[in-house]
This record gives sequence, structure tokens and C-alpha cells, in this order.
Amino acid sequence: MGEEAERLVVVTGANKGIGFEIVRQLAKEGITVVLTARDATRGKEALESLKSQGLHTVNFHPLDVASQESVLALAEWLHKTYGGIDILVNNAGILNLDKDVTFETVKPVLDTNYFGVKNVTKALLPLLRDDTAGGAQVIVVASRFGQLKHLENKDYVKKLSDREHLTEDFVDSFVNHYLKDVVDGSQKGEGWPNWTDWVNSPYGRSVETYSVSKVAVIAYVSALHNTLVAQLGSGKKINVFSCTPGFVATDFNNNRGTKTVEEGADTPVWLALHSPKEGTGKFWDERKVVDF
Ligand SMILES: NC(=O)c1ccc[n+]([C@@H]2O[C@H](COP(=O)([O-])OP(=O)(O)OC[C@H]3O[C@@H](n4cnc5c(N)ncnc54)[C@H](OP(=O)(O)O)[C@@H]3O)[C@@H](O)[C@H]2O)c1
Repeated sequence: MGEEAERLVVVTGANKGIGFEIVRQLAKEGITVVLTARDATRGKEALESLKSQGLHTVNFHPLDVASQESVLALAEWLHKTYGGIDILVNNAGILNLDKDVTFETVKPVLDTNYFGVKNVTKALLPLLRDDTAGGAQVIVVASRFGQLKHLENKDYVKKLSDREHLTEDFVDSFVNHYLKDVVDGSQKGEGWPNWTDWVNSPYGRSVETYSVSKVAVIAYVSALHNTLVAQLGSGKKINVFSCTPGFVATDFNNNRGTKTVEEGADTPVWLALHSPKEGTGKFWDERKVVDF
């Protein structure tokens, strides 16, 4: 177990699927893990399931990543209970299977997959301890749907590719531009991800919104890295990574995925255990840095 035994990891959206498996694999290493879930009953059931497997280093706290009140309550509880944390794994995410792309269907996806990640990270950053070997970490479970090859707007592709100059404000403006186009009904032709191949699939055009949200979190990780580098000296050493679990059989895709949850959790867990120095701010797949 070694030094990992003293680390504290917080995982969002961990009552099932990949998040639950990330908690399970880290707990098997003897690491203390806070399993969070938006529904307390489902979260406590998940906790009991892990305890029944002999994993006793897991604790539970409610967290709805889309609720600022819930995010602040978690931060306060972590501070009081543990003093600080070492690793945050932003895993919670949704895909709205409603085929319509309207403000009502898009907003919850952006609020969970992008603004939720940002708000949780912002609230927990002050609690991250950088005195562990390799520094503290923020890991974001993103998706291959967030790679820039899916985006048709060449201007955004150019600006978002320029990782070293990405800022959180720019990523916010990208997401808010998409939301505005949805409200105006003008998103077609604006170069947002083109998912015509998916329109007749069970996912419909909702994949377009999901893709925008995941492009945004991958870009956010680079922007956060830039902010943290700029603060080095006065700030903390925190490694930040985005990654994809691959296409994993979970409720998310009605179990259509081709990977098991064990395989899907592999890269985020590996990042948590190894915190590779070279790949901070970047997007990871199968334990390797890949193109955004
Ligand atoms: N499965 C794949 O093939 C795949 C591929 C690429 C990326 N991903 C990403 O992997 C992550 C996990 O997906 P999964 O496949 O494990 O999906 P899942 O089985 O549907 O699990 C998603 C988890 O997120 C939670 N969640 C949703 N909204 C939340 C909120 N507002 N606050 C807190 N928790 C919330 C869910 O809680 P409830 O049980 O309460 O709904 C659930 O625990 C997501 O970010 C997803 O985008 C998955």
C-alpha cells in the first residue's frame, strides 16, 4: 500500500458505473475514498456493497454536482472531517437521450458535464494538499466525443487546439455560444459537432450536446493547468488530467459498450496512482496522451 494508503480521493457520480468501479479499485489499494452520489439512498447502498466486499476505507457524502449548495456542503464536510484531500476524480456525467435539442434538454447536460466539473473543482481546489509525492491531482472523466475532430467550426478548432493559451473564460464563452445558438434555433451551420450519422440512433442529436460538453471539459483541464502553472511559486503543485474510459457497458449507453467497467476505470485509476509528470493538462486514453 505504501504512500497511497495515506491519500484521500473524492469521486463524483460514484454510486454506479465507472465511478463506482474507480472507488472500488482505489479502495482495493487501501486508499481512503469518499464515494459521492446525488441520491443519498443510492450512494449508501453503493457504500454498503463495497463494505460487504471487505473494502472498509470508503466513506460516503451526498453530492449533486449541478447544485452549488450541495458542492459547498461537501467542501465544508471534507474540510471538517479530513482537513484536506489529495485527488479529485470528476466522473459524474449525463447524456440526455431526448432527441430534441432545446434549452431544456441541453442545459442539464452542460450544467452537469461542464459547469458541474468546474464548480466542484473550484470548491475543492483550496482543500487539495500538495504535500503528497507527485503533488495533488484533479482527474476529469471526459470522452472521445470531446475530441476536436468532431467540431466543424474551424475557428474554434484552431483556438481550442492552442492549449498553452487556453483560458477558462474562453471555454465558458464557447459553451455559452452553443447554448445561445440552441436558444436562437441557429445551431445548424454554426459548426457544432455534426452528428447526422447519429440522428436515427437511440442517442439522436443529443450526442451533439454531449460532445460540446466534453470538448469543453477537456479544454477546461488545459486552461486550469495553465492557471496553475502561472501560479506556481505562490500556488500549489496540482496535476490535472482529462481522460476517456473508452466505450464501456453501463446504464449510460444501455450496456451497449464494448469494455467492462473494470477496463473503463483503468486509465483514471492509473492516473490517480501514478500522476505522470509529463501529461498534466492533457487528454489521456488507454494510459497514453492522445490528441485533443
Ligand atoms: N460508458 C461509456 O461508454 C462512457 C464513455 C465515455 C465517457 N463516459 C463518461 O464516464 C462517466 C461515467 O459514466 P458511466 O458510463 O459510468 O455512466 P452511468 O453508469 O450512467 O453513471 C453516471 C453517474 O453519474 C451520476 N450523476 C449524474 N448526474 C449527476 C449529478 N448532477 N451529480 C452527481 N452525480 C451525477 C449518476 O448518478 P445517478 O445514479 O443518480 O443517475 C451516476 O452515478 C461520465 O462522465 C461519462 O460521460 C462514459
